[in-house]
Amino acid sequence: MNYMAKMASVELSLDGSINMNVAIMGAGGHAKVVYDAILSAEQHEVIGFVDDNVDLIGTKLYGLPIVGNIADLDSPALLDPENRGVEGYIIAIGNNTVRQEKVAFYSQSPLTTTPLPPFIKGDGVRGLSHRYVPITVIHPRAVIAPTAQIDEGSVVFANVVVNPEARIGKHVILYTACTIDHECDIADYAYISPGCNVGGQVKIETGAFLGIGAVVLPRITVGAWSIIGAGAVVTKDIPAHVTAVGVPAKVIKQHLTPCPSPKAFGEGREVGGLG
Ligand SMILES: CC(C)(COP(=O)(O)OP(=O)(O)OC[C@H]1O[C@@H](n2cnc3c(N)ncnc32)[C@H](O)[C@@H]1OP(=O)(O)O)[C@@H](O)C(=O)NCCC(=O)NCCS
Repeated sequence: MNYMAKMASVELSLDGSINMNVAIMGAGGHAKVVYDAILSAEQHEVIGFVDDNVDLIGTKLYGLPIVGNIADLDSPALLDPENRGVEGYIIAIGNNTVRQEKVAFYSQSPLTTTPLPPFIKGDGVRGLSHRYVPITVIHPRAVIAPTAQIDEGSVVFANVVVNPEARIGKHVILYTACTIDHECDIADYAYISPGCNVGGQVKIETGAFLGIGAVVLPRITVGAWSIIGAGAVVTKDIPAHVTAVGVPAKVIKQHLTPCPSPKAFGEGREVGGLG
């Protein structure tokens, strides 16, 4: 489909944001939650899933195709009834390192770097220099302060609270019922698990991971790519590239590479199996 035809098909929702046909990159457990949030928000339409797990390619999830490449969703056999093809995408991979690798891949791919006409720029959608636009997913039952900022590619699930002046970076995951208090800075590729409570003015640096139910006291910094165990209470700054667990949280491991522990995200590094 040519660009003008594609652009002519883009519709604006009542709040001025753009409705798009989207591909979900990943078809594992995390992708299911992302799908559910998109469905609940009733803004975008999911066309299918993209995964590099050969066991999943060619199968279906929730009645939608799982393909190996985003371009396969534009194939005539899979086009939606309005024939619009894919317009946006969300990377639904839990592992912070793998998510970062996929962002790098898709932001350099010729499939995602063809310029779009400027007129589709609008609220809630950023980075529109790509043919497929990265979307941001916010569950309608998340509570987001108007002064908070959430950047492209991030997902915010049900019962999350983001308080005033918090800044949520790109491709961040805010899992079910976590709370991010005032003036927090949650950097790109961070992952905040279900039920975490993050106090005011906390900094969670790039790629850091908080396990289920972790608590971070106000004004603490959690260093880049560090892993905080489930149930930990972080009372002091945590350096980059470590694992810390317990109450109060103590460093138990130092990492040579980002996010070495598949246990933080579920077993294995394969795209489809990350939770
Ligand atoms: C922190 C975590 C990543 C550690 O994984 P790991 O690096 O493979 O570490 P190990 O399992 O080898 O555990 C190392 C030690 O820490 C202890 N430990 C592990 N996780 C712990 C936790 N959350 N709290 C307290 N102690 C913990 C282990 O019992 C072990 O202690 P030992 O040496 O005395 O036997 C993991 O246990 C964890 O908490 N994951 C969170 C998962 C999660 O919340 N996922 C969210 C998906 S939505």
